[in-house]
Amino acid sequence: MLLSKSAPRFGVQLSLCLSLCFITPSTWAWQTILNQQDRFTPEQSQGAMVVAAEPLAAQAGLTSLKAGGNAIDAAVVTGFVMAVTYPRAGNIGGGGFMLLKKGQDAAVHAIDYREKAPAKAHKDIFLDAKGHVDKHRSRFSHQAAGVPGTVAGLALALERFGTWSLAQALAPAIKLAEQGFIVSPSLADSLQQRQQNLKKHPASADIFYHADGSPYQAGERLIQSDLAHSLKLIAKQGTSAFYQGDIAKKIVAEMQANQGLISLSDLQAYRAKIRQPIQGQYRGYEIFSMSPPSSGGVHIVQMLNILERLELKSLGHNSAESLHWLIGAMQLAYADRATYLGDSDFVDVPLQGLSAKAYAKHLFAQIDPEQARLAREIKAGNAPVYESPETTHFVIIDKAGNVVSNTYTLNFSFGSGITVSGAGFLLNNQMDDFSAKVGVANAYGLIGGSANAIAPHKKMLSSMSPTIVSKDGKPLLILGSPGGSRIITTVLQVLLNVLDHDMNIQTAVNAPRIHQQWLPDKVFVEQGISPDTLDLLTVRGHHISQSRAMGAVAAIYIDPDTGLRQGAADPRQPWMQIFSD
Ligand code: GLY
Repeated sequence: MLLSKSAPRFGVQLSLCLSLCFITPSTWAWQTILNQQDRFTPEQSQGAMVVAAEPLAAQAGLTSLKAGGNAIDAAVVTGFVMAVTYPRAGNIGGGGFMLLKKGQDAAVHAIDYREKAPAKAHKDIFLDAKGHVDKHRSRFSHQAAGVPGTVAGLALALERFGTWSLAQALAPAIKLAEQGFIVSPSLADSLQQRQQNLKKHPASADIFYHADGSPYQAGERLIQSDLAHSLKLIAKQGTSAFYQGDIAKKIVAEMQANQGLISLSDLQAYRAKIRQPIQGQYRGYEIFSMSPPSSGGVHIVQMLNILERLELKSLGHNSAESLHWLIGAMQLAYADRATYLGDSDFVDVPLQGLSAKAYAKHLFAQIDPEQARLAREIKAGNAPVYESPETTHFVIIDKAGNVVSNTYTLNFSFGSGITVSGAGFLLNNQMDDFSAKVGVANAYGLIGGSANAIAPHKKMLSSMSPTIVSKDGKPLLILGSPGGSRIITTVLQVLLNVLDHDMNIQTAVNAPRIHQQWLPDKVFVEQGISPDTLDLLTVRGHHISQSRAMGAVAAIYIDPDTGLRQGAADPRQPWMQIFSD
């Protein structure tokens, strides 16, 4: 049984739940843990810790740590288990980014396993005869899928920084796919919500819906035999099963039957990459976050550099004055994102300039201390639409202090909704993260420029921001979030809450957040920011828009004095779990 020493009441509930859930298809235990979970103080531990958005995956991660694996082994285990138990975002048909810090080595390594455009893709591929963006094709067709990177990325992490074999790391996922697991209320709910799209595709309907079309309910056992077979092939043959062998052939057959773009040579050519993360300094802390093809790291550092010029603590957390400056910094960073950011293997991204303190000084001077600036004064663009983002982030620390911060995704919830027939996994719809047409917003309302135009083999720009903060070379804070374009501002605010406002990590994660992304010219605010503050911001010219919850942060803080590890699971995703040793 897996019990958290530091939170015995919750640990007992969870263990009870996991046992009961496997014996009796009951939702009672799930409801109990969701209702009783304490989300006001961080969970503490001297040992290993995993925070992930799905309990079976977090549990498998911790079990692997207890069995002698390091944080990287546990991350690979967690990532593969989520591909089985959390199909809305966990995946082998998508991609993502991992940051890790191992041993006494002060360096932080970044693994880029973002999807790539297939060779047949081109700049105008999603334009219709009239030159308009065909959003259905860029989001829900076989052409929406980029060449998946997850299998290559997790395997590379294991090979370079782990201690386990791929077969060992895949074993828990294979078992859960083969023997099935009990559907949680949150999975049942997501299947209900996404049924229209998923049921369009017979291979997806066969997995997630009964013969009468009804979705799997909480408490029922979900077995995924095709996925188990695919995972077994990878365990036996390595990544070549996915990129050259049987699985690759199934992906290509799926594409050929449905006007998709991915070819065998696209799959064969795919490689995950180890990259230098973006590095910055903020008030004496070292900030490491993801470099292109993600925009996350550079804009987090850029905004921190701007905000470092203020005494944020004395301005007060979420006061109108401090939010005014945050909004100003966000607006400028996202305007730069639209212009400069793209895959740095294809375009020159001025990373040094964007993350320079001198540039931040220049930007800071552009923020009017009293009045909001209109988006059009900064740069023109079109109004966007916004759809639900679904990505997932997990963080891991092992006993020795090695840390992993991993964000990966299929893009939308369940990606394109298309399952590769006979292979049992969903395909991403990440091609929509490219700029299909300059000045036309993607699903997150993000405007892109030519730097993020589609080109063969190019990677689409991301906002995923797995982040590690260290102090004097020692990890202090490990965090990240889902949330599409909101990921960057979510991570920024949690950093400020801890580093400036001295909040404990759980309070920092809980605190209400805002988001501004230049276009639309709106400040999205969560519930919980005082109406007086919002009135003051409105008087200054900010366009306030009440928003649903933004992001879902998984974080670990390591107390620099005691070494105590403190985990935080975002209450915005009540099924997120902390497992500790
Ligand atoms: N698909 C969302 C992102 O990568 O930012």
